Amino acid sequence: MIFTILIADDEKNIREGLGSFLKMEGYQVILAEDGQEAKNLLAEEEIDLVIADLRMPKISGEELLKHIKDNYSTVPVIILTGHGTVESAVQAMRDGAFDFLTKPPDLDRLGLLVKRALSTREMILQQKILQRELEKDKRFGLIIGKSPKMKHIFEVIEQVAPTKASVLITGESGVGKEKIADAIHYFSDRRDKPLIKVHCAALAETLLESELFGHEKGAFTGAVSAKRGRFELAHGGTLFLDEIGEISPAVQVKLLRVLQEKKFERVGGERTLEVDVRIIAATNKDLKAEVENGNFREDLYYRLNVVHVQLPPLRDRKEDIPLLAAAFLKELAHENNKTINGIDQKARMILHHYSWPGNIRELRNCIESAVVMSRDSIITAEDLPPHIREAGDHEDYIRIPLGSSMEEAEKEIIRSTLLYCNGNKSKAAEILGIGRKTLYRKIEEYNLEQ
Ligand SMILES: Nc1ncnc2c1ncn2[C@@H]1O[C@H](COP(=O)(O)OP(=O)(O)OP(=O)(O)O)[C@@H](O)[C@H]1O
Ligand SMILES: [Mg+2]
Repeated sequence: MIFTILIADDEKNIREGLGSFLKMEGYQVILAEDGQEAKNLLAEEEIDLVIADLRMPKISGEELLKHIKDNYSTVPVIILTGHGTVESAVQAMRDGAFDFLTKPPDLDRLGLLVKRALSTREMILQQKILQRELEKDKRFGLIIGKSPKMKHIFEVIEQVAPTKASVLITGESGVGKEKIADAIHYFSDRRDKPLIKVHCAALAETLLESELFGHEKGAFTGAVSAKRGRFELAHGGTLFLDEIGEISPAVQVKLLRVLQEKKFERVGGERTLEVDVRIIAATNKDLKAEVENGNFREDLYYRLNVVHVQLPPLRDRKEDIPLLAAAFLKELAHENNKTINGIDQKARMILHHYSWPGNIRELRNCIESAVVMSRDSIITAEDLPPHIREAGDHEDYIRIPLGSSMEEAEKEIIRSTLLYCNGNKSKAAEILGIGRKTLYRKIEEYNLEQ
């Protein structure tokens, strides 16, 4: 993070002396000649630390301190005092100043104080970001799935999470792309740093640019104060670019530069900022095809697609449906203050045979609606949304897609029959015309327990 320090002192020598010292230390510095100017600058810029003289024209240091504590409570203030005013400095500490320095200030001590104040400031800022993220997704940590396809994805996550490699997550709507991005961040050693998300499709081109890179004051109409972009906020952590397929060619160029050089400028700004950010991008578009059609830059595609995680649609991993349904049932029944113990056999068959074009999100919504509709302690077919209940002749048929192997067909037959028999293995073996031991062996072989 690049920190901005505001120095407010009516003594030109001190103001400029401290300013050039702190600039040499690598900070951005803004100078104010009195308390009123300092107040105005606080409203216009993102200030991380204020160094203020106690005696200033217009608005005194005491008043300025109070203004900062009331309006920018996370911005630390270091007070400068002349000889003989130590008492007021002590009072300032009581009023919330971070520390004080007597004039003429000792630069070594100033350097130390500034470092300490800013590291506290950084911690507070990051804590805030993390808190927001946690609140947004309290359910994190629970990626459900035991199908071979999902197991493979877990292995990939474990392998790539600790690296800095960019990850491109693709898959249909609602398959869990964002959930996987969360997992990659939280399994990485960046977990204590921010995970910042940008929904690229939701923002107009110019807005997206200033969201990503930030802007300086006056960069465009309405830019009344400087603002940090998501890249700066994500420094040290992860930036999740959702719906990356939607970004304009101009933003593609800028993004490419950050990926290549880790450098960028705020909109309307001249300073070049450097960041350390891990990029995860997601899309439900076929990005390769977008490249071929000339809608997406090939060089950017390769930068984003260092590791590719392709999430399979739910209909291709049906063995995860019961697990997901059970987890959502538990969560949503609790949320709706209902006691619901399970899903009856007919309803389970329907869930199993439905094609889930909206994938996991659709399954979750379906369970939510069933929980709300249910009058009993068990979800029945009647509780399911009509379009799902009525989609297809699921009741008396086993459906096996063309192109399946013998093994897949057998697996499907056993699974459907077990569902039909409510998990009763003796009954299933009887219907299938095989011995119980054979059935047990096959259940294990095909991983059909549950
Ligand atoms: N494996 C999973 N286990 C549990 N819940 C999941 C899983 N995958 C997805 N979900 C849940 O399904 C919903 C949709 O997931 P998510 O938002 O990650 O999908 P997406 O692929 O980003 O969708 P879209 O393309 O529409 O943005 C969320 O409520 C998420 O918590
Ligand atoms: Mg998403």
